[in-house]
Amino acid sequence: MQETASTGAAHGLVVALDGPASSGKSSVGAAAARELGYRFCDTGLLYRAVTWLALDRGIMANDAGALVALVDEIDLVDNGNGRLARVAVDGVDRTEAVRGPQVDIAVSAISGIAELRLALLTRQRRLASQGRIVMAGRDIGTIVLPDADLKLFLDASVEERARRRVLERGIDPASDEAGEIVAELKRRDELDSSRPIAPLRAAENAFVIRTDGNQLDDTVRQVVEAIRKAEAEAEAERVVTAARASGTGPALAAAVPPPGHEAAEPTAEPRRLRTSGPPRAQRRPIRPTPIATHNWWLTKLGTLVLRWIVRAIVRFRVEGDLASLPKSGPMIMAANHASSADPVLIGAFLNQVLGRPLNWLGKRELVEFWLTGWAFRIAGIHPVDRDAADLEAFRTAMRILEAGQVLAVFPEGTRSRDGGLQQVREGVGMLALRSGALVLPVAVIDSDILWPRGRLLPRFGKRVTVRYGTPFSVPDELAKLRAPAKGRQATEAATRLVMTRIAELLPPRQRGVYAADPPLSREGVPAERLQSHGS
Ligand code: DC
Repeated sequence: MQETASTGAAHGLVVALDGPASSGKSSVGAAAARELGYRFCDTGLLYRAVTWLALDRGIMANDAGALVALVDEIDLVDNGNGRLARVAVDGVDRTEAVRGPQVDIAVSAISGIAELRLALLTRQRRLASQGRIVMAGRDIGTIVLPDADLKLFLDASVEERARRRVLERGIDPASDEAGEIVAELKRRDELDSSRPIAPLRAAENAFVIRTDGNQLDDTVRQVVEAIRKAEAEAEAERVVTAARASGTGPALAAAVPPPGHEAAEPTAEPRRLRTSGPPRAQRRPIRPTPIATHNWWLTKLGTLVLRWIVRAIVRFRVEGDLASLPKSGPMIMAANHASSADPVLIGAFLNQVLGRPLNWLGKRELVEFWLTGWAFRIAGIHPVDRDAADLEAFRTAMRILEAGQVLAVFPEGTRSRDGGLQQVREGVGMLALRSGALVLPVAVIDSDILWPRGRLLPRFGKRVTVRYGTPFSVPDELAKLRAPAKGRQATEAATRLVMTRIAELLPPRQRGVYAADPPLSREGVPAERLQSHGS
């Protein structure tokens, strides 16, 4: 159960979605987020869960200290796709219970308590800090995320909202119970909007969407369109700013898709946009490899044969707590790269351990070669164009993680010349930060001796070890270290963290440029060191 939602965040927007009770924020927000590959967070669940626990334990609304203490017992549950639309209390899913009528009655009073709101504020901001999220609530656009890229406010008449709730709960519309629902909604509207702290209201720069008479799908479409439009505008603005800054105006402008085009795609940082090479339109379109999600018989057979070959040629050892590696959810496998044998030494074995395939990025020439292309595609290799490598590779990688799958990367990009770690660019840190996926550090030890660069075939009988580390969440680790969560410094810190975790697993000979760093304990790199590196 992770609140640092495990998927989703490429360079998308932060979207605040506010509105009164039963305005459809949760269903609309979750559906729109799903369509756009965004994460979703229903903050009302946090207030509801505190209220439910308080009722259960007989804690009074005026006991702020006791209410705040409940916050740590509550987790928003990630469904594996970054949707935080369920809540757990002490590890048990209580989503249905917290939506019950008793909580409806008490929640407005509880959520008016300043200390509690403050305790939940940091938590909500942290969730949003990785971007690419739709966050639903009452005060998201006004208090929680006043700098949100887009603010939407869903509204509907109280009668319409009551009608929906009656339908939802299967109540007879002519019954007294249905009448009580209208009264209850009115009372909650009044409490939510008249409370002195964080009252319910649309932020000044919010777009108000009235949903009376709308079907759910209509509202979802409106929200998706609003986000796509805002993405296209943000993208255009970013590229123009970058072009101005780098003095490459015309070339960059040519590379910018027209507004709306590929608007929902994650994008790399402006400085990584392609500024040379043939225009986008002249390049042959890439036929993407489908994201590999399960080991089918051909993959199983292929990896079995590769394992036999490895064991026949190499004195091979695998180390690490393989049994505890996550069998589902997005994960970045990041390894050092010293030999052409590395992908096989990892892939053939890890596929079997995880019970699911790895997805790799590879040169398009490799994957499009008629003789071998099919095999590479089966092996989960995704073609990327060298001319636009950074941008395309980043997008493809994000898609794999958003699909909840395993992405395998060699952050160094190319094989090391001397077997030691080389200085890396920041792709892996950026991916780990924006996706929130767990990172599995892996060290391939002595593969450069087995099959050095420039040698046609591997040597027989050499000893090689693949050592697996413990998967970790980069945003969580950076938060522990109080390193910045956003921006260039955060990306540098994230990249350094990943590389240092790989270096820890390697023998000193192979730590290369990361040898100077003392080994890091699981808890910590001193924050100053992380923050100051390279800046
Ligand atoms: O959206 P909902 O009905 O599930 O929210 C339950 C209550 O939580 C609502 O009456 C007010 C409160 N809430 C809040 O005060 N601030 C938020 N950001 C979200 C919900």
